[in-house]
Amino acid sequence: MERGSRTFAGFVVLCSIRYLSSIPSGAFIGINIGMEFMRDLPSANDVLFILKSHHVTHVRLYDADHQMLNALANTGIAVMVGVNNDELHKIGENQTAAADWVNKNVAAFLPKTNITAIAVGNEVLTTYQSGAPHLVPAMNLLYHALVATNLDLKVKVSSPHSMDTIALPYFPPSTATFNPKIITTMYLYLQFLKNTESFFMLNAHPYYGYTTGNATSSIDYALLKPRLARSKQIVDSNTGLRYLSMFDAMVDAAYYSMGALNFSGMPVVVTESGWPSIGGANEPDATMENAQTYVTNLIHRVFDKCGSPSQPQFPTSTYIYELFNEDIRPGPLSKKNWGLFYTNGTAMHSQDLIMVKGNRNSSGCMVFCVAKKDAKESALEAALNWACGIGNASCGAIQKGQPCYKPNNLHSHASYAFNDYYQRMRSSGGTSCDFWGTAIITTKDPSKISAKGSLIPLIFHIE
Ligand SMILES: *[C@@H]1O[C@H](CO)[C@@H](O)[C@H](O)[C@H]1NC(C)=O
Ligand SMILES: *[C@@H]1O[C@H](CO)[C@@H](O)[C@H](O)[C@H]1NC(C)=O
Ligand SMILES: *[C@@H]1O[C@H](CO)[C@@H](O)[C@H](O)[C@H]1NC(C)=O
Ligand SMILES: *[C@@H]1O[C@H](CO)[C@@H](O)[C@H](O)[C@H]1NC(C)=O
Ligand SMILES: *[C@@H]1O[C@H](CO)[C@@H](O)[C@H](O)[C@H]1NC(C)=O
Ligand SMILES: *[C@@H]1O[C@H](CO)[C@@H](O)[C@H](O)[C@H]1NC(C)=O
Ligand SMILES: *[C@@H]1O[C@H](CO)[C@@H](O)[C@H](O)[C@H]1NC(C)=O
Repeated sequence: MERGSRTFAGFVVLCSIRYLSSIPSGAFIGINIGMEFMRDLPSANDVLFILKSHHVTHVRLYDADHQMLNALANTGIAVMVGVNNDELHKIGENQTAAADWVNKNVAAFLPKTNITAIAVGNEVLTTYQSGAPHLVPAMNLLYHALVATNLDLKVKVSSPHSMDTIALPYFPPSTATFNPKIITTMYLYLQFLKNTESFFMLNAHPYYGYTTGNATSSIDYALLKPRLARSKQIVDSNTGLRYLSMFDAMVDAAYYSMGALNFSGMPVVVTESGWPSIGGANEPDATMENAQTYVTNLIHRVFDKCGSPSQPQFPTSTYIYELFNEDIRPGPLSKKNWGLFYTNGTAMHSQDLIMVKGNRNSSGCMVFCVAKKDAKESALEAALNWACGIGNASCGAIQKGQPCYKPNNLHSHASYAFNDYYQRMRSSGGTSCDFWGTAIITTKDPSKISAKGSLIPLIFHIE
């Protein structure tokens, strides 16, 4: 089978189709850790604690900070490291410099630190034009350095692009094309991805699409609201595909732009997407509520469905932007406020966020293991103690002061621990969700049934 060719069964699109070797099977949610513009840097170990207590499985670093890479050792967390834009020139012209970079920042940390990708520069074609001629040469030389160290199958090389690489208007997506100004470099970039079985990296921010757009779309469409009213959905008249969110339209615009250059079969991974929680007087859409809504809906979007409308076979794995606010980032107030957590680990959007792991069963439903509503308190208590003790469930997050402590009741804590145990057992082949009759499998996510209704799991982990 040709790489990436579709295996549609009639009109039924299966989400569980084999993915390219370059993409871990299944969709994942990761998080961006940008700390360049923070006044008070948390220690690498503090960052790690936050990542672990929220079951984060994938992170993107904007550089290759050695303290972070050391802290991430032996965690299994998949790490994308970054080459800074101002390093491109040197690396693109000098094989020795490229080899040095790979040796110092990648080879030296593998296999302990699970480095899986190098993001070469960030938004180079739209924000760092002088680096553009060096981009693909740098990618090539880094790739050769990986080949030389036998790491090319383990570590993919790509480069994140902004939506500005696509000519406006990018709706309908089927008509999207890359901006003519950058097309030569884009072509070489795509050729590189094709040759090395890598993937397209896209920074997709509906916040900007909405706030700088022509008010042709509703905020609900931008915020990925589920069950969007039909009148707010947008249909691509060329393909008949119905767009329920700007996020999907952006991802498809990238696929169609690649298609216009005759490239296909390469997945888009969204390397940044988020929403600011605070903005200046002229930035009314940057609110805590919108930020929480967007991030929550984004996580559900990535996990609940197939990929984008035109490419359902590629789930849209996404790195949320970003872990912390970058309080000294230049620019408008909104630029500084995309973080999900305070550096002390408290979630910014809600004190009550509950993080759970979920798995799909073989019919593709998300399943969770939770405490039964009518379970006897004494039995529940014993089961909880077993899960957190002998059972080895990771119960740090439900301790006092930790992110999943609230709501503080036996039922919620037991559900958290049961689910943690169950998901891990499932990953290694086991399946029991029983806990002496106190637990039950459900497809509703436990945060919704255990708490006030608006509570949503933040980071899922799907096998
Ligand atoms: C590294 O991350 C990838 C992607 O999540 C995962 O498949 C792999 O098992 C991880 N490797 C280790 C050694 O944990
Ligand atoms: C290439 O890079 C290496 C290592 O960084 C450096 O020692 C060397 O001087 C560079 N060569 C040129 C021609 O710049
Ligand atoms: C807004 O409309 C103008 C004029 O029709 C067009 O040139 C521009 O590309 C549009 N912007 C967006 C973001 O679609
Ligand atoms: C794409 O392929 C078609 C059909 O083979 C061809 O007509 C077209 O010129 C190609 N476009 C590009 C940009 O290479
Ligand atoms: C964490 O920091 C934030 C902001 O400074 C503060 O509001 C919150 O109470 C702190 N949380 C804890 C547990 O100290
Ligand atoms: C998956 O879960 C759903 C909902 O609980 C259930 O209806 C279905 O039978 C399950 N499939 C398998 C194969 O267990
Ligand atoms: C918990 O971990 C210990 C030590 O790694 C192991 O011996 C034990 O079998 C584990 N228990 C379960 C229920 O997995």
